[in-house]
Amino acid sequence: YMLDNLIIVVIGASGDLAKKKTYPSLFDLYSHGYLPEHVVIMGYARSHKTKDELRDQLMPFLSDHGEASKIEEFLSKCMYKSGGYDDRDAFASLHADLLDYEAEQEASTTSNRLFYFAVPPNVFLDAARSIHETAVSPSGWTRIVVEKPFGHDYDSCKELSLGLAELFTEDQLYRIDHYLGKEMVQNLICLRFANEFLEPLWNRNHVQCVLITFKEDFGTQGRGGYFDKSGIIRDILQNHLTQVLSLVAMEPPVRVSGPGHSHYVRDAKVQLLECVPPVTVEDVVLGQYVGDGEREGYLDDPGVPADSQTPTFCSAVVKIQNRRWDGVPFILKAGKALDDRKAEIRVQFKPPPAGSYLFDGPAIPPNELVIRLQPKEAIYLKTNVKAPGLRSAPLQSELDLSYHLRYPDTYNPDAYTRLLLDILRGQQSTFVRDDELMASWKIWTPLLHAIDEGQAAPIPYRFGSRGPAEADELAKSVGFVYSGRYKWKNPAAK
Ligand code: BG6
Repeated sequence: YMLDNLIIVVIGASGDLAKKKTYPSLFDLYSHGYLPEHVVIMGYARSHKTKDELRDQLMPFLSDHGEASKIEEFLSKCMYKSGGYDDRDAFASLHADLLDYEAEQEASTTSNRLFYFAVPPNVFLDAARSIHETAVSPSGWTRIVVEKPFGHDYDSCKELSLGLAELFTEDQLYRIDHYLGKEMVQNLICLRFANEFLEPLWNRNHVQCVLITFKEDFGTQGRGGYFDKSGIIRDILQNHLTQVLSLVAMEPPVRVSGPGHSHYVRDAKVQLLECVPPVTVEDVVLGQYVGDGEREGYLDDPGVPADSQTPTFCSAVVKIQNRRWDGVPFILKAGKALDDRKAEIRVQFKPPPAGSYLFDGPAIPPNELVIRLQPKEAIYLKTNVKAPGLRSAPLQSELDLSYHLRYPDTYNPDAYTRLLLDILRGQQSTFVRDDELMASWKIWTPLLHAIDEGQAAPIPYRFGSRGPAEADELAKSVGFVYSGRYKWKNPAAK
């Protein structure tokens, strides 16, 4: 793609996603030499503005990402055109402009076009239809990038999927789940399948339970209007955490990389998700945060209806009915306004056999492999060792691979930057395929409908707490051992 003409069209260029994520990531790629010199980045949105106005608006979002001269250079590639998303004439005129830019680029006779949808899903189909009819590349590839929400349940997602499938083929569609662009999520396949010591233990014989956690220590922060329509399950569990689950639990794919092999990882993920029965009301604890005296509660957010029952916290016990995992609970937990900001995977192993006979004293705590997705990526294995020195009692310690210490100088790009590069390279395994998405909605839709019908109400929890105490009890009841005594000391922290 570096040798061909390239035009990137950001649909919804004036919106939040475009300013905060799409343009900064494009700039990141540009400044690291991953976009061709001759690239043109065309913004398209309804509001009228000149290209200079767009550039002025983008500037503050780029200033942390590179030198002023590079920013200037990048912004000189950024153009703008206004028009409605269902306006064929405006898209036809966009197409005419793109042809002109392509003629000027003259890098090649092949011109590729990437359309990045930074717009709400209610205009996905309008924009996709307009592009399909008037603006696809006549000579190279045309790729469409979309991001959640993909519907609000199984049926609405299916409808959207069918609509898009009439216009573009699956290999033209890139559905972003930005968790798939995170370093440690991308690392899962290598960690699991390039290390012989893990695989024999990675099953129901040795694993007691698996906890996949997402915590934020801030609330909806004025996004209440958006959030109230989705809730934490649609916002985090159905997509990000289910994606992580599928990579943690799937069988080895036929191939991981290589041309034409993108489908193998996605096949393995779908197969796993199809072994997961729908989550029920009995499998979850829901919560909604209330103010702590200083910080406001969810219902105080002006965008949120005063009687909203939308959960801002959910802990769910997910089962996997296959040979490897039968009987092992996977606890998926996500919440806003909690005590910490972090995302991690915690694989808790069974206790060592006869541990309490071999060693005097308290029970030997189980080993745990923790993969910290963020912040400060790390992999550590809680390991029991003899207390150093003259003592001989077992002591819980850890084997620790903290990325910031081990790889201090490595460029660690944002998830969107990595994913954009994958799109340009035509690498689809880090994107969500149609059938994967449907399999995931199948797991969560019955629960979502039950909640929407008022069959499960959220339990209030205080802003800054661990969430409802009932969630810890749920985890305990399915076998998770919580040892409040152990505290991992992040060696990267000062
Ligand atoms: C988004 C959700 O998909 O992910 C947000 O809509 C959430 O509510 C965000 O804050 C979290 O992403 P990250 O990368 O900060 O963990």
